[in-house]
Amino acid sequence: MNAWTRKDLLGLDELSPAEIRHILETARAFKGVGERSLKKVPALRGKTLINFFVEPSTRTLTSFELAALRLSADVVNLSVGASSLQKGETLKDTALNLQALRADIIVLRHSSAGAARFLADRLESSIINAGDGAHEHPTQGLLDVFTILEKREKIEGLHVAIVGDILFSRVARSNIYALVKLGAKVTLVGPTTLVPKVFEKLGVRVAHKLDDVLETADVINLLRIQHERQRKEYFPGLGEYVSLFGLTKARAARLKPDCLIMHPGPINRGVEIDSDVADGLHSVILEQVTNGLAVRMAVLYLCAGGAGLPS
Ligand code: CP
Repeated sequence: MNAWTRKDLLGLDELSPAEIRHILETARAFKGVGERSLKKVPALRGKTLINFFVEPSTRTLTSFELAALRLSADVVNLSVGASSLQKGETLKDTALNLQALRADIIVLRHSSAGAARFLADRLESSIINAGDGAHEHPTQGLLDVFTILEKREKIEGLHVAIVGDILFSRVARSNIYALVKLGAKVTLVGPTTLVPKVFEKLGVRVAHKLDDVLETADVINLLRIQHERQRKEYFPGLGEYVSLFGLTKARAARLKPDCLIMHPGPINRGVEIDSDVADGLHSVILEQVTNGLAVRMAVLYLCAGGAGLPS
C-alpha cells in the first residue's frame, strides 16, 4: 500500500504516525535538492498551483511559492485584497473559478476554522491548508518536527514545552497532534485563560508557570499572542505577560545546555522572546524557515500524486 494516498493536506490530527513520517522522509530528500547548486527538479512540471491567502503571510506564502517553483510547477499567488472576495464573491465560488482555471493544487490560508476542509469536500483540486483560523497549520507543525529531528535522533521521549497563546494558536494544535503521535512529552505553558485544562484531553500536560519547565525542556517553542483572534482581554497587560511567560535572557540561562529554542514567527522581540535569545546560539528559528521549504516541497509533491522518494 502507498504511504500517501490523500488528495489534500488539511491537518495533522487526521494523519497516522506513518503518514507524518513519510512526509518528513520525503522532505529530507527535498532538502538535499535545495542544497545543490541547481535547486530545481521537474517533479511537478505541467502542474498548476494557486496560493490563495485570505490572511497575511510572509513565511508560508513565500515558501509555498518557492517550493512550487523548485518543483517546476506553474504558480500564481492570489491575495484577498486583489480577489473578487472584495466584491462579495463567496469562498466556494472563488475556489470553483480557480479549479476552472485547472489549478491542480490550491493552497488556502483563511481566518475560519474548517475553510480548507469545506473546499476539499467540494473540489477535485488538491487543497492544502496553510492555516485555518485557530484550527490547524499542518505544514508549520511538520516543519517544526522536521527541525527537531535534524537536531535530535528521535522525537519519542523528548520534553517539548509550547509556551504562550495556545487557545488561539493553530500552530500549537498542529504541533501537539504531530508531537504526541510521535511520542513526545508535551507541556503547554501559559496563563489559565489561554491554556485551559481541557487541552489535557489531547494527551499533553498543562502548566501555568514557565519557570517550572525551564530545567527539563528539550525543546521550547514560543508562540506569539494572537491579538487578531482575541475579542477580549485574556491577561491584565503585556508587562505582566512578559514577566511571567517571556523567555528572557535570565530564563534562557536556566535551560538545558542543548535545549532548542523555536518560534514559528512572526516574533515579537521583547514580548514572548528577548532579542538576545531569538538571535542566540540555541535558537533554530531561521532553520525552521529553511526547513519549511523542504516540507512544503514534500507536501506539494505527495498531494500531486508523487510516488517514491525524489532522486
Ligand atoms: N509561521 C507562519 O505561518 O508565518 P507567516 O504567517 O508569515 O506565514
